[in-house]
Amino acid sequence: MSTTDETATAAASGAAATERFHHDKSPYDAVRDTPKERVDLLAREVLSAIHDTIRRHQVTYDEYNALKAWLIQVGEDGEWPLFLDVWVEHVVEDVATADRQGSKGSIEGPYYVPNAPERGADADLPMRDGEAGTPLLWEGSITSVDGTPLAGTVELWHADADGYYSQFAPGIPEWNLRGSFTTGPDGKFRIRTIQPAPYQIPTDGACGKLIAAAGWHAWRPAHLHVKVSAPGHQELIAQLYFPGDPHNDDDIANAVKPELILAPVGQDDGSARIDYGFALDRQED
Ligand SMILES: [Fe+2]
Repeated sequence: MSTTDETATAAASGAAATERFHHDKSPYDAVRDTPKERVDLLAREVLSAIHDTIRRHQVTYDEYNALKAWLIQVGEDGEWPLFLDVWVEHVVEDVATADRQGSKGSIEGPYYVPNAPERGADADLPMRDGEAGTPLLWEGSITSVDGTPLAGTVELWHADADGYYSQFAPGIPEWNLRGSFTTGPDGKFRIRTIQPAPYQIPTDGACGKLIAAAGWHAWRPAHLHVKVSAPGHQELIAQLYFPGDPHNDDDIANAVKPELILAPVGQDDGSARIDYGFALDRQED
């Protein structure tokens, strides 16, 4: 067992995700002008859905108190980003990107960190010497929906071959398997990294308690996270998956789409090549 296995806890990764969210975003600014009528509508409908569930299933005081204790624990464990991103964000993403013509997106999840090291258009993702995992050579390009090449940026972050993210599990160098790749006018990029492992979301905190109590599993299929941007175009946030992963069909975060499954080609030296690019929608005026 590695140091990471021994010391990665829900409280540690949850606290990191909560702190990161506070640090990177000012979520209230974007909704400052929301009319009272919309807040009233959304709040009332969510509460009404809860009330309906209580009536329909005759929820007891013991169950209500267990829920109250559990909700308090989600906060204490810093797991609100994890809970929301795993069980809610995929529907928000669907609604937000329904009109897009270009590449499909997926959820961002709680483990993104901005300002990863810039590597240029043809480089290795930052990694440790002898980083474990099948080496991947990924070639692709950024274009507009009509195929015009775009100078842009691919930010890439993913778990290691043990399923852990730098900055959320201890004992991993700060920017390990996190990098930013900026293309020239031809839009082309060439990235060398390793294939990440499937992982379970943390199971020792409040989210794990729900998973165990409901008899669910905690697995996410192996995936690469990307944020792709180019001037004048909508940012694309996606996750890319590997064929044959048993959890592509029952991802706990419901974030897999058929268009996001890669087709790696095995090479004689044991590595794999990937050919996958991104078509970005123009920014709406
Ligand atoms: Fe992930």
